[in-house]
Amino acid sequence: MPNIPDHLVNLKGGFKAFLSPPPEGVVRLTVGEPAFDTPSAISEAAIKAIREGDTHYTRGEGRESLCSSWASYLRERWSIPVQDDGIVVTPGAKQALLYAMMVAAEPGDEVILMAPSWPTHVEQVEIMGAIPVLVKCQQPSFHPNLDDVAAAITDRTSAILINSPNNPTGAVYTPEEMQGLVRLAIEHDLWIISDEIYTELIWNETEHVAPAAIEGGFERTLTVVGPSKTHAMTGWRVGIFAAPTPVAKVVGRLQGNTCSHIPAFLMSAAEVAANNWDSVAEFRGDYIRRRALMMDLLNEIPILSASEPEGAFYMMVDVTSTGMDATTFAKRAMDEAKVQVIPLESLPGGEGFVRLSYAAEDEVIKEGVKRLGAWLNSQ
Ligand SMILES: Cc1ncc(COP(=O)(O)O)c(C=O)c1O
Repeated sequence: MPNIPDHLVNLKGGFKAFLSPPPEGVVRLTVGEPAFDTPSAISEAAIKAIREGDTHYTRGEGRESLCSSWASYLRERWSIPVQDDGIVVTPGAKQALLYAMMVAAEPGDEVILMAPSWPTHVEQVEIMGAIPVLVKCQQPSFHPNLDDVAAAITDRTSAILINSPNNPTGAVYTPEEMQGLVRLAIEHDLWIISDEIYTELIWNETEHVAPAAIEGGFERTLTVVGPSKTHAMTGWRVGIFAAPTPVAKVVGRLQGNTCSHIPAFLMSAAEVAANNWDSVAEFRGDYIRRRALMMDLLNEIPILSASEPEGAFYMMVDVTSTGMDATTFAKRAMDEAKVQVIPLESLPGGEGFVRLSYAAEDEVIKEGVKRLGAWLNSQ
């Protein structure tokens, strides 16, 4: 067999190893997707589009009215001054992030990420043949230390990746932190890749300030959002790339030369999603309840220490007092307590922590945490 490039052979599968469906009877506190059905208005729009024969090639960036709807959302909701032709609708936010990476990182460039980082962000830097530079966040807040970020910038740095609210830590960066990161990017003429997939899911008083809404930020920020998490649409594979028009034109050509566009009949559904935030408000209520439920139940297990997440639907749980490292903890929790959690041991900055998702239903959360408590008590 001819050679497969080393940087591709060495690609890791992110959290995949811990997300595979476990044997029956195991409680999963791992999955990063809402335990809701996609709102029916969205599903019906797709069904209608198929019935009406919306099954042909179309505009690569996404239908004009679709792009315009998401541009309006970003302008009105987050004050991002994007034009309608600054939007490219992609197969999932992940693909939008990859396009952003293609724009912002050439082979040998360094990309700064806050650690612990969602593994896909790191792997996408690797796909580009660029170098991930992981800057550990402060603990226990998991907020970035701007001096450490500044110290990590070199002549080879091309981009800073920001993901707030954050997966896996649940941290929501303050407006001052966002401003500080944008200031550094301006000073060093860097791109910002801003993964804002969880911005509708913030649970404290922090106001989300998009880097692209900060003075001097828009021209250098590649913003990624999408309906996967907010509208329970993870399996639909719809994501939104937003940037200054010249950048979106490049990304439109990247998409045109690769997957062409998202399925034509999903475009009507994705447009309905851009204008449908009522169900998201309902989901929010459920998440707030589930977050409190998981927090209360974990607080009854003194050997575990959970930090209150500010956003998204993940909880960082410090397991060091159990005497186990996070990987051993996760393996034994699976084998002995029949609970699946994600160990962050192998992620710089995540040592000693497991990630629990409270996107699961109430009963699943109750059963999972109860089992963890009983198992740890029996040690
Ligand atoms: C931080 C972050 N960005 C992007 C994504 C991917 O979103 P999508 O399913 O739209 O590709 C995820 C999914 O887990 C995520 O956690």
